[in-house]
Amino acid sequence: MKINNRLSNVSEYHFKKIDDIKNEVLLTGKKIIDLSIGDPDLEVHSKITEALIDGLKEDKYNNYPPYDGIVDLKKAVIKYYHQVYSVSLNLDEVIILIGSKEGISNIIPAVCDIGDCVIVPEPAYPVYSICSKLWGCVPYTVPLKRNEEYLLNTDTIPVEVIKKCKLIFMNYPNNPTGATANSEFYKRIIKFSYDNNIVLCNDSAYNEIIGVDKDTISLMQYDTKRQCVEFGTLSKTYNMTGYRIGYAVGNAKVINAILKIKSNCDSGQFIPVQKAAIAALNLERDYVHYVRKIYDERRKIAKSVLIEKNINFFDTEGTFYLWCKTPRNYTTNEFCEELLVNHGILVTPGNVFGKLGYDYFRIALTKDKLIIEEALKSLKKCGD
Ligand SMILES: Cc1ncc(COP(=O)(O)O)c(C=O)c1O
Repeated sequence: MKINNRLSNVSEYHFKKIDDIKNEVLLTGKKIIDLSIGDPDLEVHSKITEALIDGLKEDKYNNYPPYDGIVDLKKAVIKYYHQVYSVSLNLDEVIILIGSKEGISNIIPAVCDIGDCVIVPEPAYPVYSICSKLWGCVPYTVPLKRNEEYLLNTDTIPVEVIKKCKLIFMNYPNNPTGATANSEFYKRIIKFSYDNNIVLCNDSAYNEIIGVDKDTISLMQYDTKRQCVEFGTLSKTYNMTGYRIGYAVGNAKVINAILKIKSNCDSGQFIPVQKAAIAALNLERDYVHYVRKIYDERRKIAKSVLIEKNINFFDTEGTFYLWCKTPRNYTTNEFCEELLVNHGILVTPGNVFGKLGYDYFRIALTKDKLIIEEALKSLKKCGD
């Protein structure tokens, strides 16, 4: 049987593999504390579930939803951007997605031709480079460096790559490093994208998962010509990963191109889920602060135990991840396997995020602080 040659460059999704390993260990009767995938453990707010259930009682709830999302949800996204970032958006600058992952994939054929370069950071959420390859593009990897605070540095990208590039992915607050970007960075990278006529796309999945007293930043605040695109999701802030609901905002031409791909390949999200998303975006800001406080506490405890255990990590208040250095004499896979087999702790090997993660591992703070504390305390002190 002949199948797509490009698939030979792509392996099964890493988190699917991690899930399989976890299930194998669970079958042996062993208990596991799963600090791997970024799937929040917090409860969904009752207003969100109520809106979902009420949505099921509405007329025509079961029909095909609009491809680009229901207008009320688009308006809720617009209101959110206005309230939180003081950014004004028009309806044609918003599209509703079946989770942001869908849009992150679909923006590639929306913007790029076969063979074009896509600038992707590394380490990074693997979807940027894998989907670039799947869609027949060539990812050009820019290393994120610790001594540059893991901020995307475009200075060393060769001119020939820039000429062949139509799309740049970036992701702040950053998965897996937890790095956050400031306004100077946003201005600098936007200038690069304007100067080179490349669509700049910020994946802001963790926009609200930052220190409780910090201000969230959007690329849209600095994109004065509205040339860029930003992805958002309800998954992380509102614990709605399984609902599959996200959005993209920004340049109307690009949003329309995403819609062209999307409407030809799939449909809109189930209307009651979209109603639930409206309820989430309409929650008081107190809710976001409550979530941030929980992650602040978990981060603080995890950091203090990691220091005790001599495990080096990137000190940040962004996302619910901690990016940790693998102890000396271990590869990331060896260390993660030892954590699983000897301590029953599942973390994500750094190489899931690209080769540059080979001597790192990622801890997701998606369990109660006491569970995180107990798990990390069970580790032996590194260097001992
Ligand atoms: C950086 C980043 N972007 C996007 C996503 C996808 O989120 P969703 O498809 O649930 O909206 C994730 C999920 O882990 C992520 O870590």
